[in-house]
Amino acid sequence: MSSLVPTPDHAPRILSGMQPTDGSLHLGNYIGALRQWVALQDDFDALYFVADLHSLTVNPDPAALRERTRRTAAQYLAAGVDPQRSVLFVQSHVAEHAQLGWLLQCQTGFGEASRMTQFKDKSAKQGSEGTTVGLFAYPMLMAADILLYDSALVPVGEDQRQHLELTRNLAQRLNSRFGEGTVVVPEGHIVKAGAKIQDLQNPSSKMSKSTSGGKGVVWLMEDPKRAVKAIKGAVTDADETYGVRYDPEAKPGISNLLTIFSAVTGREVHDIAAEYDGRGYGYLKADLADAVAAFLTPFQERAATYLSDPAQLDAVLADGAERARAIAAPVLQRVSERFGLLPATGR
Ligand code: TYM
Repeated sequence: MSSLVPTPDHAPRILSGMQPTDGSLHLGNYIGALRQWVALQDDFDALYFVADLHSLTVNPDPAALRERTRRTAAQYLAAGVDPQRSVLFVQSHVAEHAQLGWLLQCQTGFGEASRMTQFKDKSAKQGSEGTTVGLFAYPMLMAADILLYDSALVPVGEDQRQHLELTRNLAQRLNSRFGEGTVVVPEGHIVKAGAKIQDLQNPSSKMSKSTSGGKGVVWLMEDPKRAVKAIKGAVTDADETYGVRYDPEAKPGISNLLTIFSAVTGREVHDIAAEYDGRGYGYLKADLADAVAAFLTPFQERAATYLSDPAQLDAVLADGAERARAIAAPVLQRVSERFGLLPATGR
C-alpha cells in the first residue's frame, strides 16, 4: 500500500458483492464466494453488498428487482454474514459507486473494455441492439466498488479474475497519472478449491443459469427435493471402473461432486473420495444429495426468518449504507481532487 494513503486505523479491508439477478443464489455463489466471506469477516474489515446497479444491465422487472435485492441480503445473513462484524449494504444506497464508476470509465480504453470475456460472451448472445452501454461499462463499475473502499482483498470466484485484473490495472494507472496514493491496488482472493463449481449437467462449464438451461444448478432457496433430484441426476464421468478420486482434469464430474460434498460438510475431499472409492457413483450421489438437503433446510429457515420482517431487514441495510458512505465519501473526494475536480467547499 502506498505511503501517501493515510495509515489505516482498521484491519485490512475486504469487499465483495453479488448480483441480485435471480430469486436465489446458487451453490457456486455460496462455495466460490459467500462461504469465504463468512470465514474472512473476523480477520478483516469486511464490506459485503448487493450489486443491484450491476443487475440493471439486463433490465430486470422493477418489482422483481426489489424483491431479489432483499432475498439476496437475506441469503448473505443466512449464510452467516454478521452485520455487527461486517458492513452489509445495497450498492445503489451509496451514490458514490456510480460517481467513481464514471471517473474510471474515463480512464478505460475502449479496446481494453472490449476485451472483457464476460462482455464478449453476453453481448454475443444479446446482439448489438440488445446489449446496453451499461453492460459494456460494468467492469468499471465493479472497479469503482472495490477502489471506493481502499479494499485490500476481494474474495470472488474464478469467473471474476479478469475483472479484478482490470481493476488492478486501473488502480495502477490512476496512481501513475494522478500520483501515488490516489487509490489502493487490491488483490484478488480466489480459493483453490471451489472457485469454479461446475454445472451438474455439464461439468466442463461453470454452474450458472445459462449453462444447460439451469438444470445443472442447485439453488440455495429451492425445494431441497429438487436439489436432491439434480444431484442424483448429475452427469458423471464415463470411466466408472476407475473409481472415485479427485482429479478435475480426468474426472470433472466426480471431482465437482467431491468439492461440493466437502464444502457442505466441512470434510476433506480426499477422505470423502477414499470412503466412496470402489463403491460406484450412485452411493456418492445419494449421500451427497442428503448432505446438500441437510445444508439447505436450515439455511432456508434462517433466510425465511429474515424475509419475514422486511422492515428489520431494511433497517440493517440502511445502517450498513450509512457506515459504507462514511468510508466511501472521503475516498471519492480524495480521488476527485486528484482528477482536478473543483472541491465543493466555496459555501
Ligand atoms: P456474480 O453475481 O455473477 O457472482 C457472485 C459470486 O459468485 C461467484 N460464482 C461462482 N463461484 C464458483 N463457482 C461458480 N459456478 C460461480 N458462479 C459465480 C462469482 O465469482 C462471484 O464471486 N461482478 C460480480 C459482482 C460484483 C463484485 C463487485 C464482486 C460487482 N461488484 C466488486 C466483487 C467486488 C458478479 O457478477 O458476480
